[in-house]
Amino acid sequence: MPKSRSQYVCHQCGGEFPQYFGKCPACGEWNSLVEQVVTAPAPGRATTLATPRSASKSRPPQSSRPLAALTLAEISDYPQSRLTSGYTELDRVLGGGIVPGSLVLIGGDPGIGKSTLLLQVANQLAQQYPILYVCAEESGQQVKLRSQRLRIGERKAEEGRRKAEENEGTEVERWESEPTAANSKRSPKRKSTSSETSPDSPGSSLQGLRSRSANTPDSSLLTPDLYLLPETDLETVIRELESLRPQVAVIDSIQALYFASLNSAPGSVAQVRECTSALMQVAKRNNITLFIVGHVTKEGAIAGPKVLEHLVDTVLYFEGDRFASHRLLRSVKNRFGATHELGVFEMADVGLEEVKNPSELFLGNRDEQTPGTATIVACEGTRPLVVELQALVSPTSYASPRRSTTGIEYNRLLQILAVLEKRVGVPLSKLDAYVAASGGLNVGEPAADLGVAIAVAASFRDRIVDPTTVLIGEVGLGGQVRPVSQMELRLKEAAKLGFKRAIIPSSQAVSSSELEIIPVSRVVDAIAVAM
Ligand code: TYD
Ligand code: MG
Repeated sequence: MPKSRSQYVCHQCGGEFPQYFGKCPACGEWNSLVEQVVTAPAPGRATTLATPRSASKSRPPQSSRPLAALTLAEISDYPQSRLTSGYTELDRVLGGGIVPGSLVLIGGDPGIGKSTLLLQVANQLAQQYPILYVCAEESGQQVKLRSQRLRIGERKAEEGRRKAEENEGTEVERWESEPTAANSKRSPKRKSTSSETSPDSPGSSLQGLRSRSANTPDSSLLTPDLYLLPETDLETVIRELESLRPQVAVIDSIQALYFASLNSAPGSVAQVRECTSALMQVAKRNNITLFIVGHVTKEGAIAGPKVLEHLVDTVLYFEGDRFASHRLLRSVKNRFGATHELGVFEMADVGLEEVKNPSELFLGNRDEQTPGTATIVACEGTRPLVVELQALVSPTSYASPRRSTTGIEYNRLLQILAVLEKRVGVPLSKLDAYVAASGGLNVGEPAADLGVAIAVAASFRDRIVDPTTVLIGEVGLGGQVRPVSQMELRLKEAAKLGFKRAIIPSSQAVSSSELEIIPVSRVVDAIAVAM
């Protein structure tokens, strides 16, 4: 067993110290030192790595030189294709499906639905592959209760019944036999260890949902290889991963896991980092895809997913308004695809459902007769979203007027109000201004500027903006309307939803057969044509 010791690393400058300091002696940052365990390398390995390259005059042929650099042409292609998770919204955010052997971090506020999403995904994947779900925060019974609430068995059975009806019985036979064949091909390669025979062994805490769910009438249709492990000890989890060797494993959550060799409490930066890197090594060695859940935390004592972002391949955030039913899955880092992709789900009584046409959701219950409402087309990654903006301006009763935003950047509203006052002549300095994007979406991009300006101006003049018009454009400080990215994509989405006109920057004027394009170069021109 290699020796291990603790050291303290500054997460700002990377300085390493043998003891804890409140202030980093290297960079002067306060409270930036975190504990890390350093394990001395095994002697054999150290000798191999220390061999100087010049000593290898009689080097073996290129292919068997693991340490030598290779050209791209010499490197073989990535061997495996991606797995589909059963949810197109998730697959798109991952860049086209799950990459085998990758490490995916799913962050989000507690209670937003991370466990629900991953249990549903795990169940879908378990139709074909062995899956391990480490429920470190809940007991097996609690997870089973959730799976019953999600009607995990029944839905599959319903699907099977529907297919059977459609194909008059021929399809169902194939469907029934398919998962079994897949399972026998990829059955868990559990190694028989002596510890597994003991009743207290970690293996005994595993429960296959498959065996427990045999009480539903159609349970013959339900054959998921979904194994639950209610365990917080990291070493037990690693042992189980190595013995079961699932295709995909879910760690729910990383803050609940505990590495006994570290003195710090579960959830601390040191614990979270050590647990993640240990899991990563096991996963990469066995080609297991890991989904790691990390709660976003407000307190400094519990490490949030931010401290893990550099370690993992993909970082997804699951967000949404707790009081609204839809949830957004966003990718902020992806080694295997584009970032800023968006997946939209809706939390229903029976779990998360995919929202295939999110624009309809964000358009809300449109009230076309309310002054101060404008429609924009925002883009999230490659996904255009038509969103309704509402503005309200009213005389202030404060010394300085109030400005408030929901889903729009506060500073951009201030800038747009200043432009309206100075360049268009709308006197807003004695008025409160409130602007909100419908559906709880956060529209961070400047393409929303023109919509905000028109909505505020319409509320000021008490006018109704033509409900069949969308507004796309950035507003400059001089009152000019500036070009935005992905214009064609935005126009297509607006046309698809039945809009008739689009007010866009004149420098981007395109011809469209589906929409009447109104090019404008200044905000004042846009106000004139929009209402
Ligand atoms: P959960 O997945 O436990 O959140 P997280 O793992 O991110 O902490 O989701 C919890 C919330 O989801 C809870 O407030 C109840 C709600 N919920 C539903 O509305 N419908 C459902 O079918 C389920 C399972 C949960
Ligand atoms: Mg949870």
